[in-house]
Amino acid sequence: MKAFYLIKNGNSEKAFELRDLKLEEPGEGEVTIEVEAFGLNFADVMARLGYYKACPSLPTVIGYDVVGKIIKKGRNVKDLEIGQRVTSLTRFGGYATHVNTNHNGVVPIKDDTDAGVALALATQFSTAYYAAEYSMNLQKGEHILIQAAAGGVGTALTQMAKRKGCIIYGTAGSEEKIEYIKNQGVDFPVNYRKQDFYEYIKAQKGEKSMDAIFDSIGGNYVKKGLKLLAPGGRLAMYGAAQIAGNSDKKSIFRQLKVLFGFGKYSPTQFFGNSQALIGVNMLQIGDFKPYILKKCMTDVVDLYNKGEINPVVGKVFDAQDLAEAHNYLQQRKSVGKLIVKW
Ligand SMILES: NC(=O)c1ccc[n+]([C@@H]2O[C@H](COP(=O)([O-])OP(=O)(O)OC[C@H]3O[C@@H](n4cnc5c(N)ncnc54)[C@H](OP(=O)(O)O)[C@@H]3O)[C@@H](O)[C@H]2O)c1
Repeated sequence: MKAFYLIKNGNSEKAFELRDLKLEEPGEGEVTIEVEAFGLNFADVMARLGYYKACPSLPTVIGYDVVGKIIKKGRNVKDLEIGQRVTSLTRFGGYATHVNTNHNGVVPIKDDTDAGVALALATQFSTAYYAAEYSMNLQKGEHILIQAAAGGVGTALTQMAKRKGCIIYGTAGSEEKIEYIKNQGVDFPVNYRKQDFYEYIKAQKGEKSMDAIFDSIGGNYVKKGLKLLAPGGRLAMYGAAQIAGNSDKKSIFRQLKVLFGFGKYSPTQFFGNSQALIGVNMLQIGDFKPYILKKCMTDVVDLYNKGEINPVVGKVFDAQDLAEAHNYLQQRKSVGKLIVKW
């Protein structure tokens, strides 16, 4: 058994080391999965750079999602069987050939489901499904804004909102990505590296015109987003990609800039406008509402099997190219889901 250990924050070439892994027997409620591929998530970049608060102290094995086969079961696992091919959320530990994980984040998948699709369903689509269905309760005809719409979660949110019949404004950081999000169904695409998204939407539709906003960038993007929110609107914040910047060095100044960029809000402003600012964190849902995590994962696998959603796999890397995969994600080159195959 092997795993990529995160041994040092910073530069991706020096951050990871392939080491032998000593895995305990699966605990109560856990299964052991033999991993065929693991997913790359933007939170992994944040963990590598030292910005991810929930990340265990180093050396540690990071990684949020794996696809593979169940080879062992701990006590009290009644809904899964040894030998099943599954997609799984892991609470870290995913960059490994084997991982123990709680059965609530594990869902069977068909043998012919593409590994990248399975991984996108586990993290990006279940996050988007939770945000769209549970947190934001999207309605037909609503005008919504999705930040970083070409990314993994962005692609998933676009597909979720399209199913609901929403009118979608979406941002992305290059002309290639703009083409991609148009093809995914974004009605009003904005290249926010060329044009301020707030000014664009204000000119197109006015302030207070968005019924729902999905924000993964944080800081002043949230502040501007709130100005675009209509009465009765909801803004979900589920990431702060802006903190990563384009350097491998952790910067307290950038963190503070993003933090102050959020601005200050009073509850009365939300009450007065019947609005909501909602946080989404799937780790917390997994820890405190595991049945909801299981339901979201089961529902997105069902939607995929019925042909109602179609995850996009942007690139597949070999395990030996893990550092390159990290750079690709950090440098904003990817669309859809990235995965790493053993
Ligand atoms: N809260 C949760 O439970 C949860 C779960 C999953 C993911 N997330 C969050 O959701 C977001 C998307 O995750 P993902 O894994 O699907 O990643 P992703 O969207 O595929 O990749 C991140 C994208 O963010 C955009 N971006 C904007 N500013 C950036 C910056 N300063 N540095 C790097 N990228 C920047 C880039 O797209 P452009 O080039 O188009 O700007 C980049 O491609 C991340 O913020 C992640 O942390 C949260």
